[in-house]
Amino acid sequence: MHSLIVFASGAGSNARAIIDYFKQTGRAKVVLIVSNKQDAGVLKIAAEKGIPSIVVDKNVFADTGFAKQLESYNPSLLVLAGFLWKIPQDIVHTFNGRIVNIHPALLPKYGGKGMYGHHVHRAVIENGDEHSGITIHYVDEVYDNGAPIVQAYCPVLSSYNADELAMQIHKLEHYYYPRTIDYLLQNI
Ligand code: GRF
Repeated sequence: MHSLIVFASGAGSNARAIIDYFKQTGRAKVVLIVSNKQDAGVLKIAAEKGIPSIVVDKNVFADTGFAKQLESYNPSLLVLAGFLWKIPQDIVHTFNGRIVNIHPALLPKYGGKGMYGHHVHRAVIENGDEHSGITIHYVDEVYDNGAPIVQAYCPVLSSYNADELAMQIHKLEHYYYPRTIDYLLQNI
């Protein structure tokens, strides 16, 4: 069975979708949740599901020992789901080609530092884009830069506010992220 480590610092709805999907299929297991926020909603989900979690500060995260600690879980993939810190080089190198992220827009549009959550959705609406969507991509040393794996689109209705667009984006994320991870695991 494949092991997954999920990195998340927000509400954790993607983490929940991934945990539930793999609980059902039995093809993988989330063995650890890493967060950088003590009060992140995802930590409650971890506790509810009986999954170990750790909260890291910048020092722990940047320490070269941390990659080794992650390795000890023998993860097939590191899954970023709402984790905003840049991944340190030694983690990127240790898990080369085995770190994935989800971005709530159609990269390369609306990517880069500071482009997360409602900042993205507001920009999409202000620009009058007719479509938005999600990008699941590999992670390298540069924000939102690694090779894309999957993009899924949704229409942006002229009546949408940022909350309404976020809801549509979350629907796409919850469907496609677990399934894309499942697909990738078939080749690991
Ligand atoms: C998602 O929209 C994802 O695209 C972005 O952060 C958000 C996390 O939401 N990277 P949640 O915490 O999974 O609900």
